Amino acid sequence: MAHYITFLCMVLVLLLQNSVLAEDGEVRSSCRTAPTDLVFILDGSYSVGPENFEIVKKWLVNITKNFDIGPKFIQVGVVQYSDYPVLEIPLGSYDSGEHLTAAVESILYLGGNTKTGKAIQFALDYLFAKSSRFLTKIAVVLTDGKSQDDVKDAAQAARDSKITLFAIGVGSETEDAELRAIANKPSSTYVFYVEDYIAISKIREVMKQKLCEESVCPTRIPVAARDERGFDILLGLDVNKKVKKRIQLSPKKIKGYEVTSKVDLSELTSNVFPEGLPPSYVFVSTQRFKVKKIWDLWRILTIDGRPQIAVTLNGVDKILLFTTTSVINGSQVVTFANPQVKTLFDEGWHQIRLLVTEQDVTLYIDDQQIENKPLHPVLGILINGQTQIGKYSGKEETVQFDVQKLRIYCDPEQNNRETACEIPGFCLNGPSDVGSTPAPCICPPGKPGLQGPKRWMDHEVRSSRPAWPTWRNPVSTKIIKIS
Ligand SMILES: *[C@@H]1O[C@H](CO)[C@@H](O)[C@H](O)[C@H]1NC(C)=O
Ligand SMILES: *[C@@H]1O[C@H](CO)[C@@H](O)[C@H](O)[C@H]1NC(C)=O
Repeated sequence: MAHYITFLCMVLVLLLQNSVLAEDGEVRSSCRTAPTDLVFILDGSYSVGPENFEIVKKWLVNITKNFDIGPKFIQVGVVQYSDYPVLEIPLGSYDSGEHLTAAVESILYLGGNTKTGKAIQFALDYLFAKSSRFLTKIAVVLTDGKSQDDVKDAAQAARDSKITLFAIGVGSETEDAELRAIANKPSSTYVFYVEDYIAISKIREVMKQKLCEESVCPTRIPVAARDERGFDILLGLDVNKKVKKRIQLSPKKIKGYEVTSKVDLSELTSNVFPEGLPPSYVFVSTQRFKVKKIWDLWRILTIDGRPQIAVTLNGVDKILLFTTTSVINGSQVVTFANPQVKTLFDEGWHQIRLLVTEQDVTLYIDDQQIENKPLHPVLGILINGQTQIGKYSGKEETVQFDVQKLRIYCDPEQNNRETACEIPGFCLNGPSDVGSTPAPCICPPGKPGLQGPKRWMDHEVRSSRPAWPTWRNPVSTKIIKIS
């Protein structure tokens, strides 16, 4: 009997320990953890050469270091191909980044012809088809030559199986049309070009962001003629149903919501941002308010109510604060106290835009760049708390304010496309459609800006041709043609 009780106690202690562990080990959601099957299809033909193949392997290791490898998170598979594909790493073979890295480093270069179509079909049949996980599936094809077989059918078959295909062309021998046929549309998102293997390290950050957007930002927001990946927070918080009163933003059909202190605009973060946020994103909101206190326009709280991410309006000092997570102290608060921030507190409609990257955060008010501040590296967010809008800081009480737009765009480039045309009188020809962001419009000439708009990642990816249209094809050479 005594033994039995001892045994029971031990079981109890174990159970308690487990529950403590479960709480301590709460997963911080981000791209690191968003469940994804990710397969790299690497060209191992003669044109690559052993030295370049070593660079590709290092690049692959660098990219996979951004992810938590394991059965609950990201699984990585690798196919090398020349005349025939070789299964180098089956999906889900490794449960840690170190083991995966070691496996990638031990891949031996093949040499041979370039049969890209066969390799894509192989990845579909022998890697993706063998994975039973229901999640985001991505294949990245990296090639430096024209394929000697057809790629279209295999790529289509992969897309039919809900696999998203990226194509990376290295050097002058790749064919634009072929890369476009391999990759998903739009090509501006899914096709990358680099001039040589040395240059592939330059697309590492962009690749990381794009892979993240696939897994973390499944929903799309209609914006002008495009569909932008992102989160419409007003939609996520059911504002449409919870707020009865609409306001007309003169002159056109654009509507806003009149939020009163009676509503509670809260939702479980796991329902709004189930996989967290990507490393870079754009926060946009258009609102007007009279309140002279300190309130959070938007916040993501921990389960015990501490802000992890917040955009705070301080009506006392007329400044704006941005809170986010941090590897130091768990959180960091950035203060925007530029005199131009005061305009937000003039009771009129204004658009706030925050371009958040891994290095810094830039505030724009009414389409004008105001201030840029550095950020410490951030952590993922805990999604077991609430996401709220319009709450007094540190309180549950709702602020009375009017809001027209409150969104997160996952593509940082949207910062350059977004307009503030929903603001009455801001655009001469006015907005073109209701609810969604209007098409670019002609804005009245304003005061000269402070400094040129900061292009996302300019310091990271430097183009040798400054007039290159977007950062997506940042590494330019004369041989690369974009039609
Ligand atoms: C891999 O990362 C290291 C350290 O950041 C960097 O020096 C190197 O250039 C990267 N290599 C490639 C091929 O991306
Ligand atoms: C971390 O917290 C301590 C104590 O609150 C504070 O003194 C310090 O400035 C914080 N560090 C950063 C980088 O915010």
